[in-house]
Amino acid sequence: MPAIKIGIVGAGGMARYHYDGFTKAGAEVIAIANRNIERANEFASPRNIKKTYDTLTRMLDAESGLDAVSIAAPNKFHKSLIIEALENGLHVFCEKPPTLNAAEMKEVLAAVKKSGKKLLFDFNNRARPESRAMLSYIKSGKVGRINSAQAIWIRRAGIPGFGGWFTTKAVSGGGPVIDLLHMIDLALYFMDYPEPSFALSSVFYDFMGNKAFKGPWGIADTQNGVTDVESACHAFLTFKSGQCLTIRNSWAEMNEREVVSVVFQGQKAGGKVERVFQRDGSDETSMDTCRIFTEENGVHVNIDMITEQDKTMGRESAAANFVYTLTGAAEPLNTPEQALILMKIIDALYESAASGKPVSIG
Ligand SMILES: NC(=O)c1ccc[n+]([C@@H]2O[C@H](COP(=O)([O-])OP(=O)(O)OC[C@H]3O[C@@H](n4cnc5c(N)ncnc54)[C@H](O)[C@@H]3O)[C@@H](O)[C@H]2O)c1
Repeated sequence: MPAIKIGIVGAGGMARYHYDGFTKAGAEVIAIANRNIERANEFASPRNIKKTYDTLTRMLDAESGLDAVSIAAPNKFHKSLIIEALENGLHVFCEKPPTLNAAEMKEVLAAVKKSGKKLLFDFNNRARPESRAMLSYIKSGKVGRINSAQAIWIRRAGIPGFGGWFTTKAVSGGGPVIDLLHMIDLALYFMDYPEPSFALSSVFYDFMGNKAFKGPWGIADTQNGVTDVESACHAFLTFKSGQCLTIRNSWAEMNEREVVSVVFQGQKAGGKVERVFQRDGSDETSMDTCRIFTEENGVHVNIDMITEQDKTMGRESAAANFVYTLTGAAEPLNTPEQALILMKIIDALYESAASGKPVSIG
């Protein structure tokens, strides 16, 4: 079978994970497009990517051999880039969040159905070794139905730059509610993606102008740029199935350190997948654990799962899963229908926070 040929759109922070994951899975990255073509050239030259462009449109016009496009551009552009690629008969791998909101995701879903092509999103935390190990326990029946879960991604000081696209709501869709949606997605994945019914949410804007709360990564500060997104969110969700989910997402909050976790309580066992950081945002200081809390033979038992370390937090494996999905070697790690449920939840979190009232999710 000839190698899958992929073009990447967006040569920023995430592109290297796409490239590494695709190539490790046997695909070829034949082109990259970036609005500023110098950046595309800088990315392409050490990796021997032959062609660079300044737009997806120009890449599609010139490259007839592409099978797929991967999108690593800011959130505002996801919808139009996905639809353009699908309409040109290509499969798509796109960064999270899927779109800016559920209305956009409905348009994307319609385009997927019309095209018959595959669309996967980079919910890389599903691809982490700890998440795969936990899912195998859940699927084995040892956890039972998950009644309740807590999705947490909290940072003490992790604002990804001031005034750039991350902090401009019109381009990003919002702050940590939408940027750090990974743990909400992972909790839903463990809970078998139930249909949500109500959301009650509060958001806060503290520290958004305070440089002491800038993360060690992200993009450069922009003079006179816009910083109009929230710094933290606390919320509660209920589902039609009777399950419930507590959410804490923050870029800047007076917590001891950055914590990324899903904790759940099942009818037979509880569990926790957790990454804690010594320093906010520094993957190399992180420690991952994966544990089950259960009872056997009248004894309370904790099971520590031993998994391989993945400092990329599943990012390379998620990109590889896209290639394996196209070659038929693996099942897709996520679906566009799940992305629509997730975007409805994100919309409801913002709507409830704005109105101060619980919001029904249709
Ligand atoms: N999965 C994860 O762990 C993770 C982590 C960080 C960011 N992200 C997501 O990845 C995406 C990119 O984030 P990033 O940190 O790489 O951003 P970035 O700002 O570092 O890079 C984005 C690049 O896209 C280019 N660009 C902008 N608009 C474009 C367009 N219309 N066409 C072509 N190029 C365009 C910019 O010039 C820039 O080089 C975002 O959606 C973000 O939410 C995901």
